[in-house]
Amino acid sequence: MKKFLVIGNPIDHSLSPKLHNYWIKNNNIKAIYEKKKLEKSQIKDLVLKVKKKEKKRNNITVPFKKTVIPYLDELSVEAKRTESVNTIYLHKEKTVGHNTDIEGFERNINDINFDIKDKRILILGAGGVVSSLIFALEKMKVSRITLSNRTKEKAEDLKKLFRDLSIINWGQIEDSDMIINATSLGLSEEDKIDLDFSQIKKGKLFYDIIYNPPETNFLKKGKDFGNKTENGLKMFIYQAQASFEIWHGIRPKIDNDVIKLLY
Ligand code: ATR
Repeated sequence: MKKFLVIGNPIDHSLSPKLHNYWIKNNNIKAIYEKKKLEKSQIKDLVLKVKKKEKKRNNITVPFKKTVIPYLDELSVEAKRTESVNTIYLHKEKTVGHNTDIEGFERNINDINFDIKDKRILILGAGGVVSSLIFALEKMKVSRITLSNRTKEKAEDLKKLFRDLSIINWGQIEDSDMIINATSLGLSEEDKIDLDFSQIKKGKLFYDIIYNPPETNFLKKGKDFGNKTENGLKMFIYQAQASFEIWHGIRPKIDNDVIKLLY
């Protein structure tokens, strides 16, 4: 029986085991996918276990997407550029780190038919997933990416990776075609982002990385101002689908049952 694992800290909220085990069963694969809470000091040991094939492969979730990098033998172009790994696999006895968050986000944007080329993007937050968003947005040829984070140094660290990034202070809002909430504000129903979006004109896209709850106050606000909204569920499903395909060589189906399973 092959073993797969999502690691993180905290990890309780992760829906990856539910989704992967559903696809594993549907495709008659002999495997099991579990979740495990790890401390930073245990990451090196885990990667060694993957190499020794004691543990087959792994998904990484925040806050270890960067921590894991020094212990891997190789990185994909995407993982290297974003300094973010969410999928580990073995290739010719070497541990390889890849990033499928990029593909997840990109496919979600294509899915909703949002014509993103030459658009102005505002990202709120500078956590683990943001480098993947920026990579995908640059690939999709947006015209400008502005980032605002409560802790400005973290925004400036991202600018070291992505030179064209513009940074504004937390609390400032720029008129943009797409506003992305990549902060953790919204994970609790009562969380409110205390920002004034009134200068964002109608007909824009409000995107929240959070998918549980399905409609954060950020998305509600966007809707109230007459904008399109999208939560992070599809991005989550697409990144999982890409990881699944790397590990099992099968592209699992995404249908309404999958969506129902997660809500
Ligand atoms: P990590 O940094 O471990 O990757 P994350 O959950 O991906 O964590 O990111 C949390 C994001 O939400 C950060 O951008 C954080 O801002 P700081 O860098 O200033 O901590 C943001 N965030 C969390 N709580 C917030 C709050 N009350 N107000 C504004 N931003 C908040």
